[in-house]
Amino acid sequence: MKILVTGGLGFIGSHTAVELQQAGYEVVIIDNCSNSSESVLDGIQRITGIRPEFELLDLRDKEAVDRFFKRHSDLKGVIHFAASKAVGESVEKPLLYYENNLNTLNYILSDLKGMETANFIFSSSCTVYGQADVMPITEDAPVKPAESPYGNTKQIGEEIIRDTCRAHPQMKAISLRYFNPIGAHSTSEIGELPLGVPQNLVPYITQTAAGLREELAVFGDDYPTPDGTCIRDYIHVVDLAKAHVIALQRLLNGDNMENYEVFNIGTGAGSSVLEVIRSFERVSGMKLPFRIAQRRSGDVIEAYADTTRANDILGWKSESSLDDAMESAWNWERKIRGISD
Ligand SMILES: NC(=O)c1ccc[n+]([C@@H]2O[C@H](COP(=O)([O-])OP(=O)(O)OC[C@H]3O[C@@H](n4cnc5c(N)ncnc54)[C@H](O)[C@@H]3O)[C@@H](O)[C@H]2O)c1
Repeated sequence: MKILVTGGLGFIGSHTAVELQQAGYEVVIIDNCSNSSESVLDGIQRITGIRPEFELLDLRDKEAVDRFFKRHSDLKGVIHFAASKAVGESVEKPLLYYENNLNTLNYILSDLKGMETANFIFSSSCTVYGQADVMPITEDAPVKPAESPYGNTKQIGEEIIRDTCRAHPQMKAISLRYFNPIGAHSTSEIGELPLGVPQNLVPYITQTAAGLREELAVFGDDYPTPDGTCIRDYIHVVDLAKAHVIALQRLLNGDNMENYEVFNIGTGAGSSVLEVIRSFERVSGMKLPFRIAQRRSGDVIEAYADTTRANDILGWKSESSLDDAMESAWNWERKIRGISD
């Protein structure tokens, strides 16, 4: 069965391409390499023994997208990762984000809705909940006004998909609301490749340990949490990738209860920034240089998932520990920086 993975050269997309191929699916990747490189195909091939079909294509080009779907009328599903994802940049360049994250979604759904088999998985985010009132966060928690244009594209994206499914009952879609994906493949053949200064905690930690950054700034230690630092739900990227395969199978088997469904994908456990640092120090045997800095505006205090729906209905559960994920992230960083034991 042929599955389109948009953004399949990116962090989460590449790990999902691997899991799909290992589950027996034929993968076609579309990417414009705006935040990735074609060499990721080599890593996927080294892990699976199969080089996925690849189209260097910008999804903002509607005619090129239409032509792609005409050529691939035998597609059985689409997993749509391609998007811009830097929160700060989205505040400075909102139109770029609305174009890249929403126009592309529109073009794909326009072509998909006319197909006989129209199965669609969307990369959404826990950012739609903002600072939720109750922990852990269930899928029924209210969607809060978005803090950034990036967050808004995820909220509007979900609405576009919901409305499209309502108007086209033969379409089936699932939005997966990711919590905080971290880590890398156990082979260290693929992993996260942030451009410039990392916006996320874990690549910042590993780059600091690798000597690329002087020290890590911990933004605030006076939050109302047990150790005063912010709490997030860090999920291993391979567990997250597997959730996509299971969600796709749900649609292909017709096991879905409605033609549009939403699932949280997290571990169900929160970890503070200091706990993540301690985990890194445990698995690496290193001391990480860090200092406490001012709170950063826009940071929510805590966010971790209630995963009951994903566990019981989707039939998926995260398997890896925080230490597993940190170890894989460190092994990947060492590999790309050429750091030996
Ligand atoms: N990483 C996270 O923390 C996180 C959390 C929640 C949700 N998400 C969402 O998951 C998805 C994947 O995230 P990621 O971390 O793998 O990001 P990523 O940047 O590593 O991957 C996205 C890929 O899409 C490609 N792309 C972007 N615009 C494109 C376009 N117009 N045409 C073709 N390709 C295009 C990029 O080149 C890149 O390879 C995104 O939708 C993101 O918003 C990510």
